[in-house]
Amino acid sequence: MATLLERPATPVDVSDNALYTEHLWHAPFAELRRSAPLSWREDSPYGPYWSATTHELVAEVELDPATWSSELGNITIQEGVAGHEFPNFIAMDPPRHTAQRRVVSPAFNPTSMARLEELVRARSKQLLDALPQGETFDWVEEVSIPLTMGMLCILFDMPFEDRHDIKTWSDMASNVAPDTGSEEYYERFMAEMGRMLARFDELMEERRNLPPSDDLLSRMVHSEAMGNLTPMERIANIALLIVGGNDTTRNSMSGLVDAFNRFPGELDRLNADPSLIPNTAQEIIRWQSPVTHMRRTATKDTELAGQRIAAGEKIVLWYISANRDESVFPDADRFDVGRANARRHLGFGHGIHRCVGARLAEVQLVTLIEEIVARNWRIVPQGEPTRLASPFLHGFTSMPVRLEQRG
Ligand code: HEM
Repeated sequence: MATLLERPATPVDVSDNALYTEHLWHAPFAELRRSAPLSWREDSPYGPYWSATTHELVAEVELDPATWSSELGNITIQEGVAGHEFPNFIAMDPPRHTAQRRVVSPAFNPTSMARLEELVRARSKQLLDALPQGETFDWVEEVSIPLTMGMLCILFDMPFEDRHDIKTWSDMASNVAPDTGSEEYYERFMAEMGRMLARFDELMEERRNLPPSDDLLSRMVHSEAMGNLTPMERIANIALLIVGGNDTTRNSMSGLVDAFNRFPGELDRLNADPSLIPNTAQEIIRWQSPVTHMRRTATKDTELAGQRIAAGEKIVLWYISANRDESVFPDADRFDVGRANARRHLGFGHGIHRCVGARLAEVQLVTLIEEIVARNWRIVPQGEPTRLASPFLHGFTSMPVRLEQRG
């Protein structure tokens, strides 16, 4: 058995924002996959952490929730604020996780999806038809954000006017930075969460007084597992659903335009063969990996990849690296709409916590790609995009583009 001293060190702190804002993350992760698939970083703004960087290791950890807990520590590299729990089901282990997930997941079943798909299609068409032609605009601001907000309003069956608030709440809840573990941040955060709860309690009260329906909030209030949550549990679960659906889908939509620009032949392939579109939705999630990582905490002293890991230590599962693992995805840096095994990506996670909204995200992405292809557009960059400063969400803050008709 290896001793603690033999832990292979992570030479570059892969939680450093600069790797993401400067788009420099490929080389350090490629080196880790090659030389130290599981490595230990003693020193980071988030404290010490293990890094799992290959497809095999990330999948292995996700499939063993008894050893690797989502409940013991936080679910990102950042610790929670001491003494304040944020009890939603992504941060729970079985059996609590199982009971709560079971309430939410039917809202994403094929029947519900068919209903949502129609609404998503109508809103996407309306938004794309109103975009300026031949003028520079910001794809993030004008397309990715409103389409994603629209999808969430559809999911919660709430007015589109609520979208700005949803964005504020979601951005705060998903912010991972060295200062988000502080009491000061927590106070500001909870003030916004209080506003969010007041709005959602209003909506849930309406549902409580109506017969149970397919709607997500209705399912929650009429269920045994989620019908009587404490205010803090309601806050945490609503925040989970809006964060889950927000930045992730938003950054896939922006990533799509980045990918088409770097690999222009791929949009030509879709125009020639639209049957590749569903696979493209998978490939963009692999290539962009909008959730950079999730984290687990060891429930006991254990061994992984020949290393000894102590109870309570945290392990960061770098999806962004696992999705570029050449042993699974040949020529992994290439965005390839026909990639045979694009579906094997880990961008939605794996195992019991695998993204519950994956189908809805796919519907939203497939719809967007179909509508781009139907309009015969080229989306031409008008300058460098700016990238999000986060070790948790991999995305863009702006992306100037101009629409042109393909010849
Ligand atoms: C869980 C990614 C869209 C709701 C997750 C996880 C990831 C993820 C990585 C954690 C898996 C794990 O820990 O093993 C994504 C990506 C999306 C997306 C990349 C879009 C491209 C959505 C949407 C919703 C959603 C649209 C709903 C509105 C959730 C929820 C969980 C989750 C509730 C917790 C599941 C559990 O703990 O059982 N997602 N997600 N996600 N996602 Fe998504």
